[in-house]
Amino acid sequence: MKNRIEAIKQQIDVFELNSADKLEAFRLQFLVRKGSIAELFNQLKELSPVDRPEYGQRLNQLKKFAESTYEEAEKKLDVLASGKGKQHRDLTLPGRRQYTGSEHPVQQVLGDMKQIFKAMGFTIATGPELELDSYNFDKLNFPSNHPARDMQDTFFITKNGKDDDLLLRTHTSPVQIRVMLDEKPPIRVICPGKVYRNEAISARSYCVFHQLEGLYIDKQVSFADLKATIYSFAKQMFGSDVQLRFRPSFFPFTEPSAEVDVTCYLCGGKGCRVCKQSGWLEILGCGMVHPNVLRNCSIDPDEYSGFAFGMGVDRTALLRYKIDDIRLLFENDVRMLEQFSR
Ligand code: DAH
Repeated sequence: MKNRIEAIKQQIDVFELNSADKLEAFRLQFLVRKGSIAELFNQLKELSPVDRPEYGQRLNQLKKFAESTYEEAEKKLDVLASGKGKQHRDLTLPGRRQYTGSEHPVQQVLGDMKQIFKAMGFTIATGPELELDSYNFDKLNFPSNHPARDMQDTFFITKNGKDDDLLLRTHTSPVQIRVMLDEKPPIRVICPGKVYRNEAISARSYCVFHQLEGLYIDKQVSFADLKATIYSFAKQMFGSDVQLRFRPSFFPFTEPSAEVDVTCYLCGGKGCRVCKQSGWLEILGCGMVHPNVLRNCSIDPDEYSGFAFGMGVDRTALLRYKIDDIRLLFENDVRMLEQFSR
């Protein structure tokens, strides 16, 4: 018994207690009910009654020694883990920087656009990105054979393997339909949002981008109202000295239709790489709402007229912040995004 007690004492002495795993191994070896010390306690009864008190006392001492060794090592490890044990602290180190999020460049541009139209009395309307085929095309007066309906351009959605009259909206114009079906004129809304097209992805085009749609319906709304609205917007958005150019164009949902260019605000209209030496940048499509579209939404075209416009948002963000690849806007890389805090 004496030798066993000595041997265990030595084992405790040399036990390296420098990690949580070792601490646990120590506990299992010496301190649990089936550990080596408890085993010796069990053997006490085999000793003669004369020897028993002496060895009982020695065993109690051994047990206390094991317990205090364990507790001390445990404390030391806790202190190390919490870092409190470090002697040297450099109080001159700068504090840890707190990173705040920043507004995405597209949202910054959209925010400015919304503010300008809000000041003109437009309210904001939104619609779903997963849209009905009939709202995206039919009710907007697209003939059934119009090339925009081609699989090449549109992400059609099938349900259980079947066509389901659903697609990812290719423009924000279906929100016009939703508003006209829901509300009675006068209507004055803008509809910002994401749109989707089945484009080959490159630095200049992406499968998703942002548009801002506008719609104004009331009695006696004319092309002059459209022009004044676009002029006022463009001067506030791109600078008071930009000039505008309305070019005749075609959209199924407007008649007459136009595309609008502003003088390139990078070169002032002299011609540069961005405007392809033309001096002009296209900013939007617009026109007077086609009578068929009004009829499709139960608005009488003899009583009401209106204008609509739709503009891209991403290109303005690219130009304003001199970003040369549209894909950067959608990759959510914080190294890029954190440069746009304001
Ligand atoms: N929806 C058109 C497009 O995506 C843009 C557009 C043109 C919207 C003329 C309009 C409009 O509201 O009147 O290319």
